[in-house]
Amino acid sequence: MRSAICPGSFDPMTYGHLDIVERASSHFDQVIVAVLENRTKSSLFTVAERIEMIRENTKKFPNVIVDSWYGLLVDYCKAHGVDTIVKGLRAVSDFDYELQMAQVNLQAANIETMFMATAPVHSFLSSSLVKELAHFGGDVSMMVPPNVLEALRTSLKGE
Ligand code: PNS
Repeated sequence: MRSAICPGSFDPMTYGHLDIVERASSHFDQVIVAVLENRTKSSLFTVAERIEMIRENTKKFPNVIVDSWYGLLVDYCKAHGVDTIVKGLRAVSDFDYELQMAQVNLQAANIETMFMATAPVHSFLSSSLVKELAHFGGDVSMMVPPNVLEALRTSLKGE
């Protein structure tokens, strides 16, 4: 069975993430969406909240499962027999960082990274942008699924 992992902080999941997960699910027998910690970012949602939101939006894909991990991505891959990481690339600005991570993961554990071109309609989309827009009252309803929109509203009301 060919398994792939779509790792990320997913804080929160956007339609851009969802598009990559859906497309990856048609190329692999199983896709694991894994919520990991990115130590360079602070988060708005807890890991449990992020998992819940992702599960709700990926339950229509029978070969997609959602999990979380605290630690190195390659250690998760080794423990679960996953040898392929799938990541979306939005623009050249993503490339340096993503290439570096892909090379570290290849060197550390022989885990391949496959990059999937983000659909043009999502090329500007990021979780950080969504949070910034939502914080100042911008309309993000075209960028995130309804349950994420609701969670953003609730979370920002409490700020
Ligand atoms: O959605 P993000 O924040 O771009 O995802 C980055 C993430 C979480 C995939 C990356 O930071 C990661 O793999 N973190 C786990 C720790 C790890 O393995 N770090 C080494 C990669 S160089």
